[in-house]
Amino acid sequence: MDKIGHLDNVLVKPSPNRLYGRQRGHSLRPRQKKLLDETLPRIRLSLEQIEHLASLFNQKPQQIWFEVGFGGGEHVLGQLAKHPHVGYIASEVFRDGICSLLGRLVPVGKEATAPLPGMLRLWDNDARHMLMALPESVLDRVFLMFPDPWPKARHTKRRFVHPQNVALLARVMKSGGIWQVASDDPVYQGWVQEVMAYQPYFNVSKPQTIRPEEGWVSTRYEAKAMMAGRQPLYWTFVRR
Ligand SMILES: C[S@@+](CC[C@H](N)C(=O)[O-])C[C@H]1O[C@@H](n2cnc3c(N)ncnc32)[C@H](O)[C@@H]1O
Repeated sequence: MDKIGHLDNVLVKPSPNRLYGRQRGHSLRPRQKKLLDETLPRIRLSLEQIEHLASLFNQKPQQIWFEVGFGGGEHVLGQLAKHPHVGYIASEVFRDGICSLLGRLVPVGKEATAPLPGMLRLWDNDARHMLMALPESVLDRVFLMFPDPWPKARHTKRRFVHPQNVALLARVMKSGGIWQVASDDPVYQGWVQEVMAYQPYFNVSKPQTIRPEEGWVSTRYEAKAMMAGRQPLYWTFVRR
């Protein structure tokens, strides 16, 4: 197994502000360009708007949830359908992923006009920037589903589960709020255990090998892991 790396070493280093990983794939197809030019601005969240979080949604949300790195957006849409009274902030940096979610929201030719889900707002930038800017204790639930594993020991700083990011999340989550993490990568799994064992903000219970709840909304990466025979682990961390 690859080395997890030394947490002590990570703890003394400054927060990794640089974003690693792909943000752009191939050049944009005409439909993708329309989605980014015409649909995204209608649902995009800006830093200026977040002081009045509750008024960002078309009804007062019973809770506010946040997803880090939504990939193709299947999980976002599944959760919205199941929880219509939740205000959902979904973040992703990869342009193709953002187009994929937008493409599921609006039919071809209606990019500028089709109604959009009133309880969803997109943050098309590094999730950490939004987490730094949000007011304290506003999030009821956070999802980090199958984050990029960065399995090499020298890349530990790139992993989203990182002492600095745990502290960022803790600030914006309500007491009793739930942080759901899933990963199928054995190195990352060991890393999550190690990082979470040494932090003061969340109650940590043993990870599960089965999905933690009835009607769990699957993601593309979870499906890939299952197909390849890799065993995901699921954590439910509760903010103290
Ligand atoms: C391995 S994919 C998993 C996607 C999806 N959650 C799933 O389970 O299918 C990880 C995603 O997180 C995104 N990502 C990585 N770091 C991010 C960050 N700091 N802010 C927002 N998105 C991020 C990547 O662009 C990528 O699409």
